[in-house]
Amino acid sequence: MTHCEFDHHTAEFAADPWRVYRDLRQRCPVAHSTAYDGGFWVLSGYRDVRRCTLDTGVFSSAADDLLIPAENPGRLLPVQADPPLATAYRRVINPLFTASAVAAMEPHIRRYVDQALDAFADEAELVADLALPVPGKVTMRLVGWPEQDWPDVVLPIRAFSTHPVGSPERDTAGEQLAAIRRRVADDVRGRRAGEPGNDLAARLAAGTVQGRPLTDDEAVDTMMMVLFGGVDTTVAAIGNMALYLDEDRELRRRLVERPELVPAAVDELLRYQAPVQGFARFVTADTEVGGQRIGRGEKVFLAWAAANRDPEVFDDPDSVRLDRRPNPHLTFGIGPHRCIGATLARAELRIVLERMLARIPDYRVDWGAVEPTVSCGTTFGRQRIPVYLTRDRHRGEGKQRAERA
Ligand code: HEM
Repeated sequence: MTHCEFDHHTAEFAADPWRVYRDLRQRCPVAHSTAYDGGFWVLSGYRDVRRCTLDTGVFSSAADDLLIPAENPGRLLPVQADPPLATAYRRVINPLFTASAVAAMEPHIRRYVDQALDAFADEAELVADLALPVPGKVTMRLVGWPEQDWPDVVLPIRAFSTHPVGSPERDTAGEQLAAIRRRVADDVRGRRAGEPGNDLAARLAAGTVQGRPLTDDEAVDTMMMVLFGGVDTTVAAIGNMALYLDEDRELRRRLVERPELVPAAVDELLRYQAPVQGFARFVTADTEVGGQRIGRGEKVFLAWAAANRDPEVFDDPDSVRLDRRPNPHLTFGIGPHRCIGATLARAELRIVLERMLARIPDYRVDWGAVEPTVSCGTTFGRQRIPVYLTRDRHRGEGKQRAERA
């Protein structure tokens, strides 16, 4: 049986994607859904997903859109190109993402997290008050824009990612994204015209691919990807982790007592609830996956989030275990397009957890008021996560910090 009703934009899917994936993997790991655009294939087994993600010759990213249903909010590079060109674009932006660049970013991340926690009162809403501003400010610093501009960029990206195609919110966000694209284009053109600067726009204006300068469009598309890449993904991950640690108080207690376990917890929680569910690829030649023939021109959804729960690769995949070594999850993809921001994302998540566990270790989620995102689509995260805080400890430390300052 190959037919399935898979549709990652439904409320049922958003309520529990993992159940949907489990069912799909057991019944039909290479399935065909007719949900959108004349249908698409969905792969949910680890080995198939991994192999096809690595096979960029047959499973191409060089397409107008990698979303299902098809929608093109403007090209993003390098993600919508194939090697070797994609690899050449990556080289231009790679210096922003090296281990040393991330180490230099860490004090700023810590400052952004503490600024957010300082503003917490007896209650807080973790998405708006912490999960959005931290990656938002990090992204502004990466592209060299003023920190305080983060809502202008982050809120439209977030609205775009979390509302279904055709909704008024998504249409408005699409217009705002067009305005951001114009700002990026002005930035790049300004640097080309000789305006001084040592920021991402300057790097892109001076960058070369395959022995020639990037075109204006290529530079803009690459900067847009840097703006897009780090926002909704990290926002979702912060929320998912905070929620999980409210369910599993025993793990929270261990992490409070032994903060050196936080990096392993970050990775395991990224496996357990991958924020990016998957992206599509276009098939460039007739092929076969898991005994199914897939034709040239068809679209395939590579469900990294599903692969991460495959019992053939992960023992007891529906449990969070800090002793998974190795932990070859596909949360950041794999191969030539593997997330260039993975080290940065891990640093952000580690610092957020470390500071939360140090400053508000007794936070309690108001579960009745947690809201899922309107549409899960590509990213699995929550819209609102209200929490209650234990004031004394949090205020105590805030006060000491204020006295020191
Ligand atoms: C938990 C957080 C994150 C997750 C789960 C995540 C996930 C992913 C995934 C799955 C891909 C591969 C896409 C594909 O193969 O089609 C990717 C690519 C990418 N990510 Fe991330 N990402 C995260 C954070 C970040 C951050 C913080 C940045 C930078 C600010 C970033 C920038 C990028 C870029 C530029 C690409 C494109 C790489 C390429 O095409 O070569 N990501 N990300």
